[in-house]
Amino acid sequence: ADTATKFMPSQIDLPSLKTAADCCKACDLHQFASQMVFGEGPPDAKIVLVGEQPGDHEDIEGKPFVGPAGVLLNQALVRAGIRRDEVYVTNVVKHFKFTERGKRRLHKKPDSREIFACRPWLEAELAAIKPQTVVCLGATPAQALFGRDFRITKSRGVMRATDWCERTIATWHPAAILRMPDETRRGQMLLNLVEDLAAANA
Ligand code: URA
Ligand code: SF4
Repeated sequence: ADTATKFMPSQIDLPSLKTAADCCKACDLHQFASQMVFGEGPPDAKIVLVGEQPGDHEDIEGKPFVGPAGVLLNQALVRAGIRRDEVYVTNVVKHFKFTERGKRRLHKKPDSREIFACRPWLEAELAAIKPQTVVCLGATPAQALFGRDFRITKSRGVMRATDWCERTIATWHPAAILRMPDETRRGQMLLNLVEDLAAANA
């Protein structure tokens, strides 16, 4: 199967990676999205936050976590005492996947082929940055880094080593918090997210 490795530049610095990823055709998603959305943040960030995939807003703006999930993430970062501009924010999959429903573009989960194809970009970002801590936002990044058996409901908030970072932790995806209908539960999940971000920063 095709992977992004085919499109890797010889220089593994973030600007070179981003330029190369703009030309990636390792899976079909590049055909439908507006643009590739690479990670954003300082090259010496101590913390890397990893989401699933750009959404509608991210696809239009070309930056990760700028839509509703990003607004909630920013609030959680403030409460955890972390500045957004000091962390590097990225996704496992770099192109938006969606189905059209009238005028709306509804997010579709990336499948294992797309995750496998795109993962070399994330691995290269982590190799370039060498962060102290990686925070997986939701099941897709958690399973990409911890393995397919990882369950966010069981192992959220546990700091462990992975092949990519000595300190890797998984927490709720902000979009999962926004979707939670039960207000009490939603509040608990937001508190968990803030605690896990604070643990990443400790
Ligand atoms: N959800 C994600 O997983 N990533 C984004 O960049 C935005 C929403
Ligand atoms: Fe390449 Fe990832 Fe885009 Fe697929 S989603 S074309 S692997 S950058």
